Amino acid sequence: MTTHLPKAEIHCHIEGAAPPALAAEQAAKYGVDTGSFLRDGSYVWSDFAQFLVCYDRVAALFRTDVDYAHLTETYLNELASMNTIYSEIIVSPDHGDRIGLGADAYLAGISEGIRLAKDKTGIEARIIVTGERHFGPDSVIAVAEYAAKSNNPLVTGFNMAGEERMGRVADYVRAFDIARDAGLGLTIHAGEVCGAFSVSDALDLVRPSRIGHGVRAAEDPDLVARLADLGTVLEVCPGSNIALGVYPDFRSHPLKRLMEAGVRVCLNSDDPPFFGTSLANEYRIATDDLGFSVPEINGMTRTALEAAFVDDEMRQRLLMRLETADLNTQHG
Ligand code: ADE
Ligand code: ZN
Repeated sequence: MTTHLPKAEIHCHIEGAAPPALAAEQAAKYGVDTGSFLRDGSYVWSDFAQFLVCYDRVAALFRTDVDYAHLTETYLNELASMNTIYSEIIVSPDHGDRIGLGADAYLAGISEGIRLAKDKTGIEARIIVTGERHFGPDSVIAVAEYAAKSNNPLVTGFNMAGEERMGRVADYVRAFDIARDAGLGLTIHAGEVCGAFSVSDALDLVRPSRIGHGVRAAEDPDLVARLADLGTVLEVCPGSNIALGVYPDFRSHPLKRLMEAGVRVCLNSDDPPFFGTSLANEYRIATDDLGFSVPEINGMTRTALEAAFVDDEMRQRLLMRLETADLNTQHG
């Protein structure tokens, strides 16, 4: 049973966390016909490319800073109710721009949602600004420049999400150089839709401390050894991988093999309602479907906190909270 375990997650996209019921409310508020992407309380998509289209449609239902504050607070309150102590939210200022809200108001709304949830539940959260690869290199560079200048203490990392098959990592290197120079933590989606080469490119050119997914590195034993040597943390999202068809079933999922090879890994939900999952469900999958023991699962939570984009003082505070919660679950 993993319900009671302390939890942390460092990979969840904010619009991807919108419950379908909330999306339906937003659509009614703005008079949007959702027939093509939301049916019978579920999001509708068929493959990775269609998922990204569906994601953008859902994102377009959130149009004000108040909408984003509500979405963020709703998600973080739900995480806190699952004993989650820390969350990193991936946000894309492009989505704020595209809806006419603007990046500043978009980030202000998300920051307000984080404050409200923290006041209510004590959950700690940070923001990872992401460029969307399918919006092209110029857009990803502009987002990095925006993140570098943001001056928002909650913005601590930079990522690139979106269509991994578009271009090569080399086309986006400048964005990561800008973010690195600004002192932001770096992570990048790689080795999800594309194979091991995409992870190698990311290590060679971006030198991130973490990789979003990265699971397809398992196809190359030398690369697995390199990840283990470097200590790069893989933000693994098993339910997402199965829903998107990266693997046909949990038996084929390489998470356990990666951990056994010495790669640092942690559990994440990615876009939970799109994939019929939640962070609590990912922890359940880890025991029931992937064969992890409770100490191994607690080890993955510790890895997430060790890799979190926070300062050392906050990291120590979070690790203490994890230890206390862990001891309480052993004795209570
Ligand atoms: N954006 C939201 N979810 C994503 C995923 N799983 N891969 C790439 N981009 C994303
Ligand atoms: Zn993701």
